[in-house]
Amino acid sequence: MMHTEVKQHPSLYLKVCCQNEKPRLPLHTSIALFLLSYCDCKSFRVFLVFTKPASTQSLKSQIPESLDVSDIQLKDLPHLVRGCRLPAVLDETGMLCRAGLAVVLRHIINKTLEADPSRNDVLALLGFKKTCLKACAEVSKWTRLCEIGIPSAVEEHLKNSANQYQQLPLSILTLERRLAEPVKVHNDDKIRRQKLQEQRRNEKKSSPAGQGNPDSESEPGQSAQVSEGLELRTALAKLSVDSVPTSTTRENSEIRKVKTTDLPPLEHVFAEGLYFTLTDVVLLPCIYQYLCSLQAHATKTLHQLPHLLRWYSRVQEVPGVLKAAEACGMSLSVPQVPTSSLQVSSAEDEPTSLLEEEEGQEMTTEPPFVGGPRPTMTKLKENGIEAVFTPHPCPDWTLPWDSLPGAINPTEGKMSNIRAVRKRQQLNNLVATVTELARPGYTVVDFCSGTGHVGIVLAHTLPDCQVILIENKEESLVRAQSRSAELGLKNIGFIQANLDYFTGPFHIGVALHACGVATDMVMEHCIQAGAAFVISPCCYGFIQNAIKFTFPKSKRFQETLAYKEHMILCRFADQTAVQLPPERRLIGKQCMGLVDLDRSWAAETHGYSVQVMTMEPESCSPKNNMLVGRPVQKNGLGVDASQLEAPVHN
Ligand SMILES: *[C@@H]1O[C@H](CO)[C@@H](O)[C@H](O)[C@H]1NC(C)=O
Repeated sequence: MMHTEVKQHPSLYLKVCCQNEKPRLPLHTSIALFLLSYCDCKSFRVFLVFTKPASTQSLKSQIPESLDVSDIQLKDLPHLVRGCRLPAVLDETGMLCRAGLAVVLRHIINKTLEADPSRNDVLALLGFKKTCLKACAEVSKWTRLCEIGIPSAVEEHLKNSANQYQQLPLSILTLERRLAEPVKVHNDDKIRRQKLQEQRRNEKKSSPAGQGNPDSESEPGQSAQVSEGLELRTALAKLSVDSVPTSTTRENSEIRKVKTTDLPPLEHVFAEGLYFTLTDVVLLPCIYQYLCSLQAHATKTLHQLPHLLRWYSRVQEVPGVLKAAEACGMSLSVPQVPTSSLQVSSAEDEPTSLLEEEEGQEMTTEPPFVGGPRPTMTKLKENGIEAVFTPHPCPDWTLPWDSLPGAINPTEGKMSNIRAVRKRQQLNNLVATVTELARPGYTVVDFCSGTGHVGIVLAHTLPDCQVILIENKEESLVRAQSRSAELGLKNIGFIQANLDYFTGPFHIGVALHACGVATDMVMEHCIQAGAAFVISPCCYGFIQNAIKFTFPKSKRFQETLAYKEHMILCRFADQTAVQLPPERRLIGKQCMGLVDLDRSWAAETHGYSVQVMTMEPESCSPKNNMLVGRPVQKNGLGVDASQLEAPVHN
């Protein structure tokens, strides 16, 4: 078996799909291969994962020769990897799996830099503050567009290519509009002054009469050309090994005096703005395939994508891109648009793009509430709805903290004494409940595991169970792994991924202080797997309608409260801090109970029995609710065989 081998390198697993009985590389696989090729990264053993035996001959041209590539059948995948969507990387220990496109790509960059720290061009892919595609798709609309929206739109387009040419996929249109917008970067001001200076110089040259005309809009065609140069030069300079400053010419004093608001805007060069980043790497194989298809079948459609085409030709100017693409069987070129000239108008009167609207939403803070939660609570009460707390089944149960190994104890961290005591109390509640639900052979998943406080105690306490920790934040998970290694735990696995990328079967899902809708995401994941859940929610104030959830969730609440009214409950549910007057805290606790009652009723329609209880002692946390759900039907815990099949990305 693979995972018993001693490995020098981490293993990268890439999916091969099957179309008309022929193997084909899905876009996520092509993207990963393109990045490996661009980085010239040799830090991984690459496995192509086949769902059924097939010849790889036809794929050869798409796989860089420099890579160490083997084939593997789905059924032979290491257990941890089989529970994840691909692409995925399993580290040298075989215990930590990273899954999902963005996480895996960022990891490839990390490994490339560790092998060769001089690769500035590779470091630059991570963008400003190294955050490119770091926020997961659940949170960031931009990550979702690049990681999921565009690749799946292109896959879809290629699949139904017969009659879909006239209609542009929405996500491609969103990108086109995004590329038309002016950009902001952190050193914006300086570059925009340079741009102004170049524009003026150019104006003087071309029209002696228009000397010193401060109105930069006067010759739009001209300035567009000039700026194209400046912005692209600035962007490319960033990638060169010996990063030369873009311009050494001193700005004249007149330029220095121009107000920031009067400076010309910068045009989009690459997908995230000015600089070439990981996002461009993700988009290139997608757009390549999309444009090839349009070029072959619907050249007219290309007219609708002027900015995308411009992006596409700029990407090809980035050093190393053509070569890397060639190695992956992509021969890039600029598509020919049928008529003589391609209209590139940057003054499109588009309303704010979809993306911007959505992003705005993410940031808006609600206007302050007038009045309190009482009218809402009264309304619920009149309809017979009141918070109900099930009595705690074992209020005095505690783990034998003093006899547990040091690394398990939350005091071991940098935590203050009082916080450590409370954390232990919270853990007592979760561990007691999980222990009661667990049977030998069960898989228990700690969602949002952080540095592993819950998961590590569970793995130690339940040696007959497998425990999997899932966490998106790499640093936290790496710490959890080293704590676990210290303890020599064997019944534990780690997954760095958005929880959507975990598709494996499990029996109990746990989450301590799952923030806002994270609680709802974990509940849903458990319900889909037919697993029991033990969840302590927090940050009720962050709850808002999300892609997958709308509030209130249950029929009875929906019949009684409008969204706004429900949000009032959520907002006041956060007011349970110890500093607040007891009166306010009591209302806060009632609101918490009501929000969780709505959640539990919604889960009950899926065949669950759910209890909302208060952790013991109450003072262990201001967010002391605990939701315990059990599937009622006998077959609820049975693992659906289909879940063991291919991790399908849709
Ligand atoms: C790679 O990731 C590790 C683990 O998170 C981190 O400590 C290290 O600084 C990263 N290396 C680079 C070059 O970014």
